[in-house]
Amino acid sequence: MGKILVTGGAGFIGSHTVVELQNAGREVVILDNLSNASEKVLGRIEAITGKAPVFYKADIRDRQALDDIFSKEDISAVIHFAGLKAVGESVAKPWEYYDNNITGTLTLVDVMRKHGCKNIIFSSSATVYGNPAFVPITEECPKGQCTNPYGWTKSMLEQILSDIQKADNEWNVILLRYFNPIGAHKSGTMGENPNGIPNNLMPYITQVAVGKLKELGVFGNDYDTHDGTGVRDYIHVVDLAIGHVKALDKIDEKPGLKIYNLGTGQGYSVLDIVKNFEEANGVKIPYSIKDRRPGDIAECYADASLAEKELGWKAQYGIREMCEDSWRWQKNNPNGYEG
Ligand code: NAD
Ligand code: WQD
Repeated sequence: MGKILVTGGAGFIGSHTVVELQNAGREVVILDNLSNASEKVLGRIEAITGKAPVFYKADIRDRQALDDIFSKEDISAVIHFAGLKAVGESVAKPWEYYDNNITGTLTLVDVMRKHGCKNIIFSSSATVYGNPAFVPITEECPKGQCTNPYGWTKSMLEQILSDIQKADNEWNVILLRYFNPIGAHKSGTMGENPNGIPNNLMPYITQVAVGKLKELGVFGNDYDTHDGTGVRDYIHVVDLAIGHVKALDKIDEKPGLKIYNLGTGQGYSVLDIVKNFEEANGVKIPYSIKDRRPGDIAECYADASLAEKELGWKAQYGIREMCEDSWRWQKNNPNGYEG
């Protein structure tokens, strides 16, 4: 097998995946426009794995740049993380989201087929299930109505990639639907690096813990869940990264369209997470109950048995390790990669 192109490889999930790919002996090329990442992560990857990945600062919408990379490097498969992912921002800037995520992916896929590379693993999301018809969510669960343009880009890209595979059965398309990735590398040197005030629960909690934010707002305690707060399937980012390494082995088998949920199968409420974080790390997280956040659902957790059966993948880390590792990263890097 040739090299693996990792788009968005300087980002949160991408950087952890590059580490696991290199640990598994794969040769990696990273492409990232650094719109939501720091170049410093490359040094951290090298320190962990002993190998500096090849890096191109480029945009997936830049056809010429992609063409040059495919001409120069012997790419046999693409793991496609590059995209914008902030739900609230996507409501305010739909054009930017559709352009970046959809135009970007269309350009990438066109250049791939031109160079005869028809293997792609795509970062999808549990968001495509909308308000899920049932839990735990299997891959058979019907896709639902998304509540924001970000979610629609994922849903539409799943459709686009499935149609491309249907029309040309040399394509190998694997759609990975992530649940809620948290945690960080054990070394404490790589983790999530959100811009401004975090939207997601765990980075908000770690910023409260480190004293950057005063208290957590819990968005609603009147959901139909065990304590009234929203339930999600949190998954350690390293487990998620390893899921990509396993999916790549599947690409080596035979072409087709495959879809897998990547979650732990365990649901935790917002207050469960607060309690686990406090107990794991001995830090108090002050919080107050706020109104529900528009677009949120009561509960979302995976049935991840298909990935176990077909990929031989199962999440290994529990909620305690997720809380410990998120905190180690934040404590050691209060300003993320910037200091
Ligand atoms: P991230 O923002 O840390 O990583 C995305 C990377 O893509 C960033 O490094 C960014 O600089 C880069 N990028 C964005 N647009 C680009 C472009 N046009 N050209 C080149 N590079 C570009 O986000 P993440 O959490 O690591 O997410 C990775 C992927 O997984 C995304 O596609 C995201 O939508 C998807 N996903 C994330 C979550 C989550 O909760 N983090 C859940 C489900 C799916
Ligand atoms: C988790 C829970 C909140 C922040 C989002 C995207 C989804 C996917 C993952 C990419 C919910 C509650 C949160 C806070 C809170 N991303 N919460 N106070 O909404 O499940 O999923 O990220 O594909 O598309 O929508 O994750 O971390 O924002 O929220 O009470 O300050 O924590 O209401 O119940 P979510 P989240």
